[in-house]
Amino acid sequence: MLEVRGVHKHFGTQEVLHGIDLTAETGSVTVVLGPSGSGKSTLLRCVNHLEKVDSGQVRVDGELIGYRQSGDRLHELSERHILRQRAGIGFVFQNFNLFPHLTALENIAEAPIAALRRSPSEAHGYARELLDRVGLADKASAYPRQLSGGQQQRVAIARALALDPKLVLFDEPTSALDPELVGEVLDVMRGLARTGTTMVVVTHEIGFAREAADTVVFLDAGRVVEQGPPAQVLDAPRHDRTRAFLSKVLT
Ligand SMILES: Nc1ncnc2c1ncn2[C@@H]1O[C@H](COP(=O)(O)OP(=O)(O)OP(=O)(O)O)[C@@H](O)[C@H]1O
Ligand SMILES: [Mg+2]
Repeated sequence: MLEVRGVHKHFGTQEVLHGIDLTAETGSVTVVLGPSGSGKSTLLRCVNHLEKVDSGQVRVDGELIGYRQSGDRLHELSERHILRQRAGIGFVFQNFNLFPHLTALENIAEAPIAALRRSPSEAHGYARELLDRVGLADKASAYPRQLSGGQQQRVAIARALALDPKLVLFDEPTSALDPELVGEVLDVMRGLARTGTTMVVVTHEIGFAREAADTVVFLDAGRVVEQGPPAQVLDAPRHDRTRAFLSKVLT
């Protein structure tokens, strides 16, 4: 489903991603761990072409993201085409990024109406289903400021699902939440994982990684240091850097 091959990215003179290779099967959950500044957000942003890669490729369901290949040359796609590709990739941000002037229901229905030209009644019907899935059926007409952080993030997850994405990316979805609200968001994510949503999740929630991940990837200074099943990477890491990182986040 997701294939990242040889992705390099620099900002100014700083190389942030030094050739990342990553694959994720349909229905799998990949958790990306790593210290601050290791390039986790940049990697996610390269996957949906919010950042251009310097070299390498990203493919989702076989389709090259951001570029079209002719012969051995790559040409960047038009903005319209990129937006269409991005519609197939859900993104959940640390700070929810809901539209403050729209209700929960409208936040979820906005993209289907604007991007897919669904009728409002159809889009609202599906938005209600999604709200029900994240346990917020009773909050359809609430505005973001009337919701707790955990509820806002659950609305944001429902919104990310509204276009039936092939893949959903999560960038530290619980790290802006009060500790008592983390569980409700992780529960929703576990539910998604069980129903076969293909997910790539940047998080420091090791418990979630242990239970829900098929693959854990440890990134450090723009390189994949190790990756494998959670039991291997979390409980028997091969590299000192992974061990050092885990000893910090597990205390
Ligand atoms: N738009 C940008 N312009 C310049 N430098 C950037 C930009 N975005 C990220 N960087 C730099 O790239 C490096 C990787 O950043 P990134 O946000 O991907 O790290 P991260 O692993 O997500 O960190 P954190 O855990 O703190 O979120 C950092 O050194 C950062 O300062
Ligand atoms: Mg980040």
